[in-house]
Amino acid sequence: MSPTYSRRAVLAGTGAAAAAAATAALSGCEVARTADAPPSGTSLGRTADVPVGGGHVLSDLDVVVTQPEAGTFKAFSALCTHRGCRVDEVSDGEIVCPCHISRFAISDGSVTFGPADQPLPAFKLKVSGDEIMVA
Ligand code: FES
Repeated sequence: MSPTYSRRAVLAGTGAAAAAAATAALSGCEVARTADAPPSGTSLGRTADVPVGGGHVLSDLDVVVTQPEAGTFKAFSALCTHRGCRVDEVSDGEIVCPCHISRFAISDGSVTFGPADQPLPAFKLKVSGDEIMVA
């Protein structure tokens, strides 16, 4: 015998699922997605555009570029290791995920504040003149 459902229960369940999907879509969270490094030679912008002690997020490439010390540039995946949201801010020497406020060090991508418990994967880069590129 198959279970029976009231119309109200079905509609309530559908509404809850839709609300959860909408919340996930708004936050950008997905489960366990990770970013691969862009192809070698991909431009990550100009050195002058990366502040010393800070950085910026290249959303279209899912990459964060930082300059922890003058002349030292780093690149990391912009996808949070907690649940895959794209980090959206670099402030006070940390890369910040908006979904559950994990923070990562701009020097090595290590977790400085959870819930993430894995570092942001680092990508190799090279600087040619004033251009930063994926190595
Ligand atoms: S997805 Fe949860 S802190 Fe980033």
